[in-house]
Amino acid sequence: MRYLVTGAAGFIGSHTVDRLLADGHEVIGIDSYITGKREFLANASTSPHFSLTVGDLFDFTTVLEACEGVDAVFHLAANTDVRYGTDHPRRDLDQNVIVTWNILEAMRRRGIKTILFSSTASIYGDATILPTPEDGPLAIQTSLQSASKLAAEAFIAAYANGYGIRALIFRLASIVGERDSHGHIFDFCRQLRKHPDRLNVLGDGTVRRSYLDVADCVDAMLLALQHAASPVNVFNVGSLTNCQLTESISWITSELNLQPVIEFGGPGPAWVGSSPVIFLDSSKLTSLGWQPKLGLEAAVRRTVNYLSANPWLFSGLPEGRA
Ligand SMILES: NC(=O)c1ccc[n+]([C@@H]2O[C@H](COP(=O)([O-])OP(=O)(O)OC[C@H]3O[C@@H](n4cnc5c(N)ncnc54)[C@H](O)[C@@H]3O)[C@@H](O)[C@H]2O)c1
Repeated sequence: MRYLVTGAAGFIGSHTVDRLLADGHEVIGIDSYITGKREFLANASTSPHFSLTVGDLFDFTTVLEACEGVDAVFHLAANTDVRYGTDHPRRDLDQNVIVTWNILEAMRRRGIKTILFSSTASIYGDATILPTPEDGPLAIQTSLQSASKLAAEAFIAAYANGYGIRALIFRLASIVGERDSHGHIFDFCRQLRKHPDRLNVLGDGTVRRSYLDVADCVDAMLLALQHAASPVNVFNVGSLTNCQLTESISWITSELNLQPVIEFGGPGPAWVGSSPVIFLDSSKLTSLGWQPKLGLEAAVRRTVNYLSANPWLFSGLPEGRA
């Protein structure tokens, strides 16, 4: 098979590329490097079965050209910054909604019949059912990013139904692991490199998450691909348990052998759009035989070890933009 992977130089995208190549597929990557890293494609770049287009998916012609001769698309590129969303009122519309439409329209014109899309568990918001199933109530959206993911899901479903496309929509919990270059583990490790004696935590540390290792996430997408029928298939992808942020902090600090003073930001969510609890019912996937290979704690610790071994990831980023 010949796959197009958007966001190929990103965290999840680069793991997806590596896995598809290891499984014997041809892979075309596309990335603008807005947050992606060339280093993440170091292995892939040595493969004769991999090629990369450096370009912005916002440009329809670029997308149309990249889609030539492709059998299926992993659409993983997106603006992934939630916290600073309101500083950029158009960014999620452009990068997550219009770009997704560009992909769908290029697929329609090229006759590509399968899309796999990385949505987010954040669209469940302050979930009233825990663990949250795929048909659980969708919240009134509080972040521009989750609003844009929900809109993108709607376009994907409409294109799937309208043009005979098979769509797999993955609502991802917090994905962690090697090459993780944003999110709380990254932010905390960066802070502790600068000042090992104190850690600033946004909010009160009571949020709960179900961190999942990136390899388990890629496994889930590939297993679902074998089973999904047309037109629209939605899968929650998260670990089977959850933990409070304070537990994750204790794993991070113990892995780093540090005992910092922890300064919490205060009550309430860390920022507008941060869900108090993300705990997904992933039984649709487990019924297909999927099981995370790594537990929450091991996944967090592996991420910390990777970041300790790769301090270059911390350079050149503005303060607070994890
Ligand atoms: N990491 C998580 O915990 C998580 C959780 C929920 C959903 N997701 C979704 O999974 C996907 C991958 O996330 P990630 O964590 O790997 O993020 P990432 O930022 O590491 O990867 C995104 C990649 O897309 C590229 N990109 C962004 N806009 C582009 C554009 N217009 N044209 C070309 N390239 C572009 C970036 O350069 C980057 O390489 C995203 O869609 C994200 O919303 C991730």
